[in-house]
Amino acid sequence: MSEGWFGERMKAGAVLAPIAGFSDAPFRRLARHFGAAWAVSEMVSAKAMSLRVQDRRGWRISAPYRGESPSVIQLFAGEPELAAAAVKQLEEEYHPDAFDLNLGCPVRKVINRGCGSDLLRDPERAAAVLAAMASNASVPVSAKLRLGVDRDVSVEVAQALVEAGAAALAVHGRTAAQRYAGRADWSAIARVAESVDVPVLGSGDVADREAYLHARAAGLGVMVARGAIGRPWLFALLRGADAPCRTAVAITLWRHARDHVAWHGGGAPLRGMRGALAAYACSLAQTDGAPLDRHALRATLVRVSTLAELRHALLAHARLDVKSISDDAGEAWQALAHTPTLARNGDG
Ligand SMILES: Cc1cc2nc3c(=O)[nH]c(=O)nc-3n(C[C@H](O)[C@H](O)[C@H](O)COP(=O)(O)O)c2cc1C
Repeated sequence: MSEGWFGERMKAGAVLAPIAGFSDAPFRRLARHFGAAWAVSEMVSAKAMSLRVQDRRGWRISAPYRGESPSVIQLFAGEPELAAAAVKQLEEEYHPDAFDLNLGCPVRKVINRGCGSDLLRDPERAAAVLAAMASNASVPVSAKLRLGVDRDVSVEVAQALVEAGAAALAVHGRTAAQRYAGRADWSAIARVAESVDVPVLGSGDVADREAYLHARAAGLGVMVARGAIGRPWLFALLRGADAPCRTAVAITLWRHARDHVAWHGGGAPLRGMRGALAAYACSLAQTDGAPLDRHALRATLVRVSTLAELRHALLAHARLDVKSISDDAGEAWQALAHTPTLARNGDG
């Protein structure tokens, strides 16, 4: 098997999957801090990029933070020409280390444009989009697919993608019709891996070390998504680290929120972090120590808009003063609290 860029790196640990609405620069940096081998950007519309649409949303989503290395940008595209144009522009602007093509998104507004999991209906078109990316990029291109639209066609699609130049594949072990129902089918993922000559990462339901080691023993790389939301230290747990104490969780949450504000700005910056804040509330409640009212904590955290409000909420409901952390969190976590705030390339 040709290992290449992806194969070498995937030995280093699990990878943060692309997660629309979550895997922004602040979250990617945390995932890397805790040992993710790499972290993929949220999906970016090739069409929006190539047309340079006014709101520049795609540019913002795909922007690496200063020092992000490696940086991997996921595109969704249905037409080879647009995919090629987007890859060229993104390379010029951001110099990523790799690109990834989305063949998994089941959301209507994406599949209606012939993108995401709609590509699984037509392996030839999928291959043409991938080939356009690969021939216009100077860096490797991977693809992330589901098993099929409503039945498993993953081996056929995977082989077409590799033939077209995919240097690695990530396979979410469900069909698009399944969305997130049932369990991910890791035997289907293993069949894809046996059928192609490039590294394959499995995705679906890995949230503990046992599942991670199981996949690694089968020679597969591992991507994690939902398990890392509000729990970015999952990457350390997968490598055998102990679960963090409450203070360490709070430091991580604080640091995430601080970077979120720095990166996204705006009048009520933490509103865009609601999903992650809800998950952090669960993480805090699961730590040892005086019992916390998980529901009250969650209800409060999802309503905060600013860092001042967040601090107040943590003091009131988690009995933590995140500004004066001085107890048992350990050096690594303290260092996390004191790292410089996230910056954009070219800032300052
Ligand atoms: C909120 C959400 C957003 C997602 N966004 C993307 C995306 O932008 N691109 C993609 O390829 N997969 C996306 N996925 C799928 C995940 O990358 C992953 O394959 C899936 O959640 C299964 O892994 P998990 O069980 O570790 O969550 C998303 C999943 C969720 C829950």
